Amino acid sequence: MLTAMLSLLLAEKHSSGYIWERTKNTDPWVERYQRVPPAHETADKLMRYFLGIDDRVIRYMRRRQHRSVPELHARFDAVFVIDSSASIKEEDFHRTLRALQLLTGKSQQDRRYAAITFSYNATVRFNFTSRRDTLGKLRKIPFEAGMTNTQDALEICLKELVLSRGSGARPGYRKRVLIITDGQSNVDKQNTLYRAFQLKRTGTQIFVIAIGKYLKGMSEIIGLASSTDAHLYRVADVNGLLRVVRMIPPWHIMREYMRRCVAEWNVRTSVLSLQPSSGTLTLSLQEC
Ligand SMILES: *[C@@H]1O[C@H](CO)[C@@H](O)[C@H](O)[C@H]1NC(C)=O
Ligand SMILES: *[C@@H]1O[C@H](CO)[C@@H](O)[C@H](O)[C@H]1NC(C)=O
Repeated sequence: MLTAMLSLLLAEKHSSGYIWERTKNTDPWVERYQRVPPAHETADKLMRYFLGIDDRVIRYMRRRQHRSVPELHARFDAVFVIDSSASIKEEDFHRTLRALQLLTGKSQQDRRYAAITFSYNATVRFNFTSRRDTLGKLRKIPFEAGMTNTQDALEICLKELVLSRGSGARPGYRKRVLIITDGQSNVDKQNTLYRAFQLKRTGTQIFVIAIGKYLKGMSEIIGLASSTDAHLYRVADVNGLLRVVRMIPPWHIMREYMRRCVAEWNVRTSVLSLQPSSGTLTLSLQEC
């Protein structure tokens, strides 16, 4: 059918043979304007050149159509490194595990977790696993009550979890290590900061939650953390830790906030685009 129509059209053109028409049809520069582009292309072009919308806004809008909620959170695998030394009361150790369970329960669903405890030595309690398994496995970690061998914990974190292929670490996901401790290491402590440095060199971030009203080992703790402003956390006791974790909303609520944040941002963008006098647009998701 189509072929028939085409040959008919061609035949007609050949037979008509007006000079002006032939000129028009053979000039590729003119001919290309015959093409009717898809509507979205034309819309983009109008926005860009007539309405004068900044390119970045248009690109952002187009991305939004492919991804309903943009990434407003970090993607990473987490390692809990938990102090199990004698300076901690057994009851407080179990409540620390409880706090970590709460924190895990409130995190993004597809994150993976591993855990290490340390006292005389450090032990991998579980390799990288799902959020759900993590909740069950945290509960079963026994209390050791020994020394504070932080450097061993950092070493096996690097060798057996971060760099090991069998640990379930996902390639392409940076690691974030959360150390929970009440202070100064006392086994081979000259190695502690060096081990931390080796771990950081792999792109792993070290966060420390330091529990206690006044900590003797503070200078070591400061050296362990990747930074003092974003990576170092202080609570006076385990109750304090539980209180902090309880103040973090569960993931589905957080996700709802992210959605609203983007929606609000889009409204602001479209309002701006209606004002011809608005100058350059600065894009910032941090605003919301
Ligand atoms: C664990 O620590 C103890 C006491 O420091 C030590 O004797 C033992 O060899 C260590 N075990 C391992 C597997 O490193
Ligand atoms: C973690 O994985 C390694 C390598 O597959 C394995 O040897 C080790 O036993 C695992 N550890 C635990 C606690 O399951």
